[in-house]
Amino acid sequence: MSYPIVILGSGGGSNAAALLQAQAANTLGQATIKALISDVEDAGILRLGDSFALPAIYEDPGAVGARLSTAANSAYIERIQSFKPELVVLAGFMRILSESFIHAFEGKIINLHPSLLPSFKGAQGIRDAYEYGVKVTGCSVHWVTPALDGGPIIDQMSVRIDPTDTLESLEQKIHATEHQLLPDVVARLSNAKL
Ligand code: GAR
Repeated sequence: MSYPIVILGSGGGSNAAALLQAQAANTLGQATIKALISDVEDAGILRLGDSFALPAIYEDPGAVGARLSTAANSAYIERIQSFKPELVVLAGFMRILSESFIHAFEGKIINLHPSLLPSFKGAQGIRDAYEYGVKVTGCSVHWVTPALDGGPIIDQMSVRIDPTDTLESLEQKIHATEHQLLPDVVARLSNAKL
């Protein structure tokens, strides 16, 4: 049984790399990564396409800011549908999805967020937790619904903030935890264990 997935990201792509490495190591369950898509033309995530012989596609977001333009929204839906995914993984995709986008892939979109939701929603989850002074933060994977960072939580991992941590060291700790959590969740979803 195959479980095609499409990954969307705007940044360096370390979580997409973790998924690709898990697939190469046969620890991604039934999941097969079909494509990488980004709204940022020079995003690191797109450079992974060559190394893993996968389509890596820049899709013009059509607008500056938090959302895709109406035309880009349709183009994204069409492009993603062409890969017939069972799962769309938002791995650092920094755009808010429209209701029509979410509806087009109802119950099939997950998002990785760098905090223990429902705390510290939004674009700066790590910094916000650090500046607040919480002693424990972490990362979450949740289903995407129209409620921003508010869909049902699938799984989480915690990270302690030690007195010696800087924002940079905390970022590193959270990213290392994300690289475990996200492939694990994708593997379990693909094996219908969640
Ligand atoms: C990750 O830390 C992810 O949790 C965060 O973007 C980073 C992407 O890193 N996502 C959000 O903040 C979503 N609100 P990567 O490009 O190295 O995978």
